Amino acid sequence: MTVSTQFIVARSDFQQAKFIETPLPARDELPEEGLLIKVDRFAFTANNITYAMLGDQLKYWQLFPAPDGFGNIPVWGFGEVIASRHPQVGEGEMLFGYFPMATHLVIEAADVSKRGLRDAAAHRQGVAPVYNAYARVSGDAAFAGRQGDYQALLRPLFMLSFLVDDALAEAEFFGARSVMLSSASSKTAFGLAHLLHTQRQPIRVIGLTSAANADFVASLGCYDEVVTYDRVDALAADRPVALVDMAGNAELRSRLHRHFGDRLVYSGRVGLTHQDAAGEDADLPGAAPTWFFAPDQIRKRAKEWGPGGIDKRFGAAWAGFAPKLERWIEVVDGRGPGTVEQIYRDTLGGRVAPHQGHMLSLAG
Ligand SMILES: NC(=O)c1ccc[n+]([C@@H]2O[C@H](COP(=O)([O-])OP(=O)(O)OC[C@H]3O[C@@H](n4cnc5c(N)ncnc54)[C@H](OP(=O)(O)O)[C@@H]3O)[C@@H](O)[C@H]2O)c1
Repeated sequence: MTVSTQFIVARSDFQQAKFIETPLPARDELPEEGLLIKVDRFAFTANNITYAMLGDQLKYWQLFPAPDGFGNIPVWGFGEVIASRHPQVGEGEMLFGYFPMATHLVIEAADVSKRGLRDAAAHRQGVAPVYNAYARVSGDAAFAGRQGDYQALLRPLFMLSFLVDDALAEAEFFGARSVMLSSASSKTAFGLAHLLHTQRQPIRVIGLTSAANADFVASLGCYDEVVTYDRVDALAADRPVALVDMAGNAELRSRLHRHFGDRLVYSGRVGLTHQDAAGEDADLPGAAPTWFFAPDQIRKRAKEWGPGGIDKRFGAAWAGFAPKLERWIEVVDGRGPGTVEQIYRDTLGGRVAPHQGHMLSLAG
């Protein structure tokens, strides 16, 4: 193959999407210490749509440059080194990390260690380090086959679940006796629900979801109560409650704040699955909504827990979560540009069943 295929979307209208082809560099055209990587497969969930929504604000668009007015949405997945100018990285190596929706990526390998490396390309700097880090996963059973698919689909999301659980527990839940999660059927939400349910009893976990997804949410067994969006006004409002908002819908948030009033003691914003054009209501009763910014909690815990402290605790949390995934998530493989575009459009339109996890490849 002499060209790389990329899937790009118009930054101002995500319905406009197209494929472009760019020439592939030969080995001697790679940057010094550069690697040419063939993108093997990647996960695609609502989180990737949120990357696009926040593409300008959080600089996601700058990671994988696209022609003017367009952006390449970042995805988590696997890539195989097919040409290398770095003496410590061989062809055939498998890397796990952040990739563009494309068949190939060139990176400038730096800080190469036994476990990983990072892309030092100038245009990728200025974002959190996690977005430029690649794990060397060849021969690691935890990243092979279906286990690898679960890692790509859930591990980056579960880091957020882990950090929110940790921050809430550290703050003693702001005095709340229960935690409500919107978009309870999302992978990020049920990762958090699992942690709260298994570690933080007697805190009650309440899942808010669409009618179509209520059965799935109830079947997970990690929510004490499941309530559809049209029924949130019927929730008991006599005890302090915390909200972790994956939906990002201003109307829902406003209803919850008005229903619980001062009993809503924490209102953390995490996601944008149901974002609408409605403006923010500046005058909500209860705790002021604030964005939960994961890198802040990571920095804080890295300092307090010392080297390896986060990895060790996160690894233990993942080990308790991963065995449940086969029961909860059906991995669906999709190959080729047509399928990738279809899953992109289904995810954008909220038409993906919550029990499905899509692993995609642009290669036919
Ligand atoms: N701040 C962070 O660092 C961070 C980290 C990880 C994830 N997140 C955010 O958490 C959210 C969930 O991500 P995920 O990848 O876990 O999601 P996912 O598993 O793909 O979630 C699917 C669920 O989200 C809701 N949804 C998705 N698209 C929708 C649409 N177009 N219209 C209506 N509902 C839609 C539906 O849930 P319901 O019917 O239950 O509402 C659907 O079942 C995303 O916004 C993501 O960016 C943020």
